[in-house]
Amino acid sequence: MIAPNSIEQLLNVAAVEEVVGDYVSLKKAGSRYKGLCPFHDEKTPSFVVSPTIGIYKCFGCQKGGNSINFLMEMENMSYVEAAKTLAKKYGIELIETGKADTDEYKASQKLRENIQVVLEFAHQFFTENLYESEEGKTVGLSYFKERGFTNTTMEKWGLGYSPGAWDALTKKAVEQGYTLENLELAGLIRKKEDGGYFDLFRNRVIFPIYGVAGKIIAFAGRKMTSTDNAPKYVNSPETELYKKSDILYGVYHAKNAIKAKSKVYLTEGYTDVITLNQNGIENVVASSGTALTIGQIRLIRRFTHDITVVYDGDKAGIKASLRGINLLLAEDLNVRVVPLPEGEDPDSYCQKLGSEGFQEYLDKNEENFIFFKARLLLEGLENDPIRKTEAVRDILDSLAEIRDPLKRNALNTELARICGMDEALLATELQKLVKGKSVHTGKDILEELKQITEAAGVDMPTEPFTDENQERAFLRLILLYGDKKFDEEKGIFEFAMQELANDSLIQFNDPICSLLVSELMANIEAGFPGQSFFTGHPVPEVVSWAAGVLSTVHELSKAYEENYIHVTHEDDNYKQDLVGIFVHLRRKKLDSLIRETIEGLKKEGVDIDEVFLKLEYLNDVQKRIAAELGNAVFTIN
Ligand code: GTP
Ligand code: MN
Repeated sequence: MIAPNSIEQLLNVAAVEEVVGDYVSLKKAGSRYKGLCPFHDEKTPSFVVSPTIGIYKCFGCQKGGNSINFLMEMENMSYVEAAKTLAKKYGIELIETGKADTDEYKASQKLRENIQVVLEFAHQFFTENLYESEEGKTVGLSYFKERGFTNTTMEKWGLGYSPGAWDALTKKAVEQGYTLENLELAGLIRKKEDGGYFDLFRNRVIFPIYGVAGKIIAFAGRKMTSTDNAPKYVNSPETELYKKSDILYGVYHAKNAIKAKSKVYLTEGYTDVITLNQNGIENVVASSGTALTIGQIRLIRRFTHDITVVYDGDKAGIKASLRGINLLLAEDLNVRVVPLPEGEDPDSYCQKLGSEGFQEYLDKNEENFIFFKARLLLEGLENDPIRKTEAVRDILDSLAEIRDPLKRNALNTELARICGMDEALLATELQKLVKGKSVHTGKDILEELKQITEAAGVDMPTEPFTDENQERAFLRLILLYGDKKFDEEKGIFEFAMQELANDSLIQFNDPICSLLVSELMANIEAGFPGQSFFTGHPVPEVVSWAAGVLSTVHELSKAYEENYIHVTHEDDNYKQDLVGIFVHLRRKKLDSLIRETIEGLKKEGVDIDEVFLKLEYLNDVQKRIAAELGNAVFTIN
């Protein structure tokens, strides 16, 4: 994390009117500036920049924030990327909290820089070889031409060629003063048994892999021979700069198009991305042939929630890819699928149909993932009720991953129609599966709030929020159900303690609760200490509280047994109750944060217009949090 005072310093120097002014033509209007909003189409300016409080705000599309946010929005950067870009431009050194002064951190920074320099050199080497060497021209260039890549395309994607010799790159690099150590750290060369080195990429065409900010972070090389059994593609190993699970091929070149179209096409291969691009479809990335990771999904989610997976057209491939998709649904993405004819991949099929034909094919054959899966799995099972049931359960399992209950219901209705089963029955089964899924306790929301407030230049309050009723309710659940299962892996006690341990913002103020929690936390490893921990506690108040709780429950269940009257059977609900308490504690925390901020604003005595502007922004934040919370709370119902 970048130190708050470092951000403050940056925001003071990187004046919002200047940063915005690079993109928008601004006119002075009183103490503010006005212009046409760069984030939506408009004819009359509703985009306002306020130098006094350092923020911009569009009253048309509601977007707003500080200089860093502006760059994030404009350039699709992450918070840190945007801050670093501004810092570089304005010559400010960003300090990272805690880390910046350590030698370890400095060493890692240095290492990253060294790797970057070596990668840039290697890239130059590969491109020179492609365009200028005889070998490169006859082998590499002609290969790319054969695949239909134009010169512009080859340049755009930085394509290159690595010669067949064992040490062409090593030799050239050392000649130019690069160290073997840095070449190895960059993943370009490998050590031989005899201590010498050899190039990782030999006799291959080269596809540079760009990071989100557009710098080369790794390479992939495709082999030129089909006779040997060397792997078709060789990739750089993971380095300080290249974390495979956090990057998707093509994301830098695609991000603007993804935002503009609010949709991304996910393919498998490097050549798929390049060919589609050459044919005018730029909102496309590739997973490079492996299962998607959470890091990659979150990367996509920064740009859009709508993802269309374009499958290679073979059955095995399709079935294999089905598995990864629940992850996409769980991360709140709308997943659609376009299957390709057998034997085709997006590259080959796009070349076959041409730009327009292929885009038409995509539009026409795109289908919601759930329906696609349903059709695929139910095919031919009309007369096999057992296997059909299994298939339906599998589909419901995917459906249960979808967080938005409204979406889930709509899809369930459609699913019932497709498989000809009773909708209410499916809905009941679905609800069971939903409950079994991992629960949302509001931690994501808090994380997000931290980012938003950080971006807005607002501090999180340091006073921990408390709600004494909730504290008691929390301990009551531990007392009664501490030994029950939460999920397959942990019990209620373990779950609750882990949540507390991971969240310093939740603290207990009620003296009894605070005492009990600290004692329990100190003995997490030993597990739930049993009800006797409470009933035999040395502090008399604890004992009388515990006795009160236990006897009420006892009375209730006795009444139930004796009279068969309906009392809420808490046993069914303790899990949701516990999750609900965490959501509640965190939500209160968020509310109090916003209230405090608003109070603070009032006290500052800035002019009323400016306060209004900032409140608008906060309102926006609040709405987003409410939406998120709606999801979280609903999910646990
Ligand atoms: P072409 O055959 O040149 O059209 O490439 P392709 O992208 O169509 O290849 P394919 O469909 O076989 O594989 C899809 C993606 O999986 C590739 O783009 C690579 O990212 C990855 N991949 C394929 N084969 C290998 C391999 O042998 N090693 C590694 N590391 N990745 C591979
Ligand atoms: Mn291919």
